[in-house]
Amino acid sequence: MAAPDLATSIGTTTLKNPLICGAGEHVMLEDGLRAALNAGAGAVIVKSINETRAGKEQLQRTDYTLLDTSWQPHPWDFHPPEGASLLCRSGLAQQSFEDWLDLVVRMDREAQVRDAYAIASLIPADIDNGLDLARQIEQAGVRILEVNVGAPHGEEAMKGAILLERDAGRVQHITAAFRKAVKIPIWIKLTGQSSAIDSLAMAAREGGADAVTIMGRFMGFLPDTETQAPMLGSRGAIGGPWALPLTCHWIAKAREKMGPDMPIIATNGARSGLDIARFLLAGASAVQMASAIFTSGFPVIQECLTEFTDYLTRKNMNARDLIGVAADKIEAYEKQPLRPDHWKTFLPDTGI
Ligand SMILES: Cc1cc2nc3c(=O)[nH]c(=O)nc-3n(C[C@H](O)[C@H](O)[C@H](O)COP(=O)(O)O)c2cc1C
Repeated sequence: MAAPDLATSIGTTTLKNPLICGAGEHVMLEDGLRAALNAGAGAVIVKSINETRAGKEQLQRTDYTLLDTSWQPHPWDFHPPEGASLLCRSGLAQQSFEDWLDLVVRMDREAQVRDAYAIASLIPADIDNGLDLARQIEQAGVRILEVNVGAPHGEEAMKGAILLERDAGRVQHITAAFRKAVKIPIWIKLTGQSSAIDSLAMAAREGGADAVTIMGRFMGFLPDTETQAPMLGSRGAIGGPWALPLTCHWIAKAREKMGPDMPIIATNGARSGLDIARFLLAGASAVQMASAIFTSGFPVIQECLTEFTDYLTRKNMNARDLIGVAADKIEAYEKQPLRPDHWKTFLPDTGI
């Protein structure tokens, strides 16, 4: 069979493959961005920025710890153990907005040569200021803007540093404001900390988003049993491969609510090429991968693409063929086969 076609579409944008290197400290500087593009990512989201000093200062107070599946810290050696979680505080890009924008423009030009994209990302603190930055991003020639309205640190970061929206009305209002301000495609990245992410997605769609990104990581707090203090000294955002089914759940719910035409981008839980397939089968058109690249290094991009290509070859399918296939087969509990007493086969031995 011919090599599978990895291309996918997000509205009018075609990506050469569905692996997007997600925003994080690993793509705040030119070298990291170039490494992600060189490794073959379909796109890279440049580390987010806003207009506030508080957002930048937050990055001076960051810390990160890798945890194994028993919640024990693992050395930061770019060989995370299987199943590792990442607990961290993060902040926003350190550069001045002008320097950051200059970097995004240069990297998006470099990306174009590789048939890829470097995407601007805002985590607004104040909407009017955010709109002003969005206009400057468009005027500078950047081709796509992601607006993250649900960063997990919103309620822990310094006051005024980051917005975290959980209200559908606000999400629609903010999306509509960005939609009015610029013509380039807008992707709205939503919080994972809501019990109605499908409604937030619908609100973003109604506000005019070209795609929704589902979903941000969660806030956590991990007591250290030795010091009896909080790990990292504070709460922190937490993510790991265990998040994948939760993200798939909300992607499928959002697909059900919005219909199959609205592009959804998955983030939160992808660690492998098969995870890319899982997210597409759940209804995503592309996948943002951040922690795996931050904690294992840039070669993981090529490894995931190879594994994903092998999967498509084995299944004799192209990337686009996967989108929503499993989501559209989800059935209600009541439609499952009746199996009286089946539950008893799962009981542990009581020794009695
Ligand atoms: C250290 C770190 C920094 C991050 N910085 C940003 C950011 O600046 N902007 C953003 O939209 N998401 C940011 N994220 C979120 C990631 O892009 C991604 O959506 C999230 O970590 C879930 O995906 P993953 O399981 O692949 O890590 C950050 C994540 C981490 C771990």
